[in-house]
Amino acid sequence: MRVISGRVFFRGQLEPLSIGIDEKGQIAAIKKVLRGDEQIDHGDALILPGCVDLHVHMRDPGLRRKEDFPSGTRSAAIGGVTTVADMPNTVPAVTTTAALDAKAAELQGRAAVDYALYAAPRSPEAVLRLNDAVAFKVYMAESTGNLEVTVPRLEEILRAAEAQSKLVVVHAEDPGKFSRQKAKNLRDYDAARPKVAEETAIATLARIRGGARVHVAHVSCLEALNSVPAGATCEVTPHHLFLDASKALGARGKVNPPLRSPADRDALWDAFRQGRIDAVASDHAPHTMDEKSALFEEAPAGLPGVATAFPLLMRRIRAGDLDLPRLVSAMAVRPAEILGIAKGTIDVGRDGDLLVVDPRNIEAVTAKRVRYKCGWTPFEGMEGCFPRAVYLRGEPIVEDGEAISEGQGRMIRASA
Ligand code: NCD
Ligand code: ZN
Repeated sequence: MRVISGRVFFRGQLEPLSIGIDEKGQIAAIKKVLRGDEQIDHGDALILPGCVDLHVHMRDPGLRRKEDFPSGTRSAAIGGVTTVADMPNTVPAVTTTAALDAKAAELQGRAAVDYALYAAPRSPEAVLRLNDAVAFKVYMAESTGNLEVTVPRLEEILRAAEAQSKLVVVHAEDPGKFSRQKAKNLRDYDAARPKVAEETAIATLARIRGGARVHVAHVSCLEALNSVPAGATCEVTPHHLFLDASKALGARGKVNPPLRSPADRDALWDAFRQGRIDAVASDHAPHTMDEKSALFEEAPAGLPGVATAFPLLMRRIRAGDLDLPRLVSAMAVRPAEILGIAKGTIDVGRDGDLLVVDPRNIEAVTAKRVRYKCGWTPFEGMEGCFPRAVYLRGEPIVEDGEAISEGQGRMIRASA
């Protein structure tokens, strides 16, 4: 048995404990003192559950010039993420069983962390056929991949998903509220896909959702959050919490839904701190520097963030702006619960997915540090607190802050 010790986040609080992990990679015991054939003592560093990022775009297959599964999951590991759920706007898009099976086969043995796959059913019949996907993704408006559906179609998909108790993650923007004006900068883009487009789409979703399990992706403002109906869950991205349309990011800050004003960002941060938002998800959506260097109106929307979500939030703990239980809930416990997978909690019988972090170890976020294939991060120069070590099912995948192994990640299939 391998024994990993430190100040462990267990049952809602930090305690000096030892975690024993069996040969299957599962937690066999959690005790004050444990003996094993291998002892790894992390002293007073914190041991938290590995993060679960329920919204990433690893671009594999089909768009590997932007990112690929080995590179994207390596970056995930560097940022303390041990499970990712990958979106279906790869090429070919995951709209059919054949595409889902082909993607699963293609990714086999190439991931540094565990992963689950979304599908994007375009009809109620497709819902039945795509049952192997961990959850469904539906776009109410155009974004990278052009997978949007009409509201009546969404309603049919929701009914079919409801019948199978399948989670539907919704990109909620109402294209009827978009302006036709070409956006030349971030403030224009905020105005072109305004807050009211999000609010309206979420209100529509609340009206038609019935008994379906619905999760609203990336709420960008308080108005959107306030429209999320009771019983539905939602997520916020680090870019909507830490960046806004006043930043000099140019097209690198272009993303759907758009970055909002500094005041919107403050309000969203307060709501997050107060526990009003279930999960943090990165919406890691890399595009190449070349693509982002095009004219603002031509540049694709989306920005990378899988490696920086945890470090940026962990830095706020040290600064006294955020509580640790809130962070663990939003980055590990709740995303796993929303996806319905047995991850995100340190307990006996769970996978030994752990991150080890010293809150005093503050570093600058740089493109080099996060190792994305696209070679840039919108958080360049900001302070982050990266994990020192990360374990996937008890095996080290990050040591001294660097990814050390590849290909150990397994696909998590739908449990339903
Ligand atoms: C995403 C992408 O590039 O894949 N872009 C984005 O702006 N968020 C697509 C999406 O999920 O909207
Ligand atoms: Zn996305």
